[in-house]
Amino acid sequence: MGSQASVASCNKQKSNYSRVSSRQGSNASKRSQEKAPTKKRYTINDPAKSCFIPERVGERDRSNTQHFALKSLFEGNFFDSIKKYVDFEHHVQILDIGCGSGAWAMDTATEYPTASFIAIDRAAIFPTSIHPANVAFECLDIADVLPYKDNHFDFVHLGSLAFALQSSQWAKVLKEAYRVTKPGGCIQLMEAQLISPGNELVLYSQEKLKSILLQHGQNPYLYENLGAMLSEAGFKIIQEEKRTVVLNNHILADEFMHILSESVDACMPFVMSVDGLESSEEFQAWKSAYLAARRDTSDVTWFGVAARKPTQS
Ligand SMILES: C[S@@+](CC[C@H](N)C(=O)[O-])C[C@H]1O[C@@H](n2cnc3c(N)ncnc32)[C@H](O)[C@@H]1O
Repeated sequence: MGSQASVASCNKQKSNYSRVSSRQGSNASKRSQEKAPTKKRYTINDPAKSCFIPERVGERDRSNTQHFALKSLFEGNFFDSIKKYVDFEHHVQILDIGCGSGAWAMDTATEYPTASFIAIDRAAIFPTSIHPANVAFECLDIADVLPYKDNHFDFVHLGSLAFALQSSQWAKVLKEAYRVTKPGGCIQLMEAQLISPGNELVLYSQEKLKSILLQHGQNPYLYENLGAMLSEAGFKIIQEEKRTVVLNNHILADEFMHILSESVDACMPFVMSVDGLESSEEFQAWKSAYLAARRDTSDVTWFGVAARKPTQS
């Protein structure tokens, strides 16, 4: 069962942004070659392909660090209510959609060795040779019809896909998740609050981020709509959780500041475009000021929703 797409085909994805000279035309171009340094500006065609570029050096580490920080924040890899319906000790089938580095799947698979996991992503940043025997990684586009039978999985997990999918793709992805979940089986979604509180610098950047996401058909308020999206797909909500890390006063603040810093790097071309930055020096200066403002005046909030497919539809 499932696609046997090669790892090589996984890695064909290209980042969809370009660096262009801010000077246009051949004369300007000649002049710019004479004068150093030439300023560059970034244009973004599609934030879904220019944020969290899976092949970026450091993306695996970011994904792994985030996994363990969230596990600590939410005290586990999934919500307690799911255990009422899914018996993880008895050969259950689990699907992780958009698995990234595979940390969630591998960690949960190690906790439950009799469960079988399939973890899918279009980029092979998951381990291809050494991983728990009860995890199979597959290279798939999650926006397509999934190559799994109806009613197959006891539990489906999706985490941190706000930048990966456009608003219009979510309904199809969740419809597929519903189709492959067993009646009585469960699903869990987890997303970060993208529009964070903070001082003027934070709010200014958040407003720009919001307008760009909207322009590109993405939902800046996805985190508030997880329950509604799951209900729309046919699931019944069983638990909703929201956890906040105040960045200047929380035991996990350093972990989340590190994740934030890596996330800014993971979205560098996007950030440069949003904030009109024209060089790596400007980017570094903006990043330092932004992170200091986040640390002093802001927080990070994550939202999670668990839901169940009705036993009879
Ligand atoms: C921010 S990462 C989240 C990874 C993981 N779920 C986590 O919580 O760490 C988003 C992931 O979605 C994947 N992705 C984006 N669009 C996709 C698509 N259309 N099909 C499959 N994977 C996709 C990316 O390759 C990336 O690994």
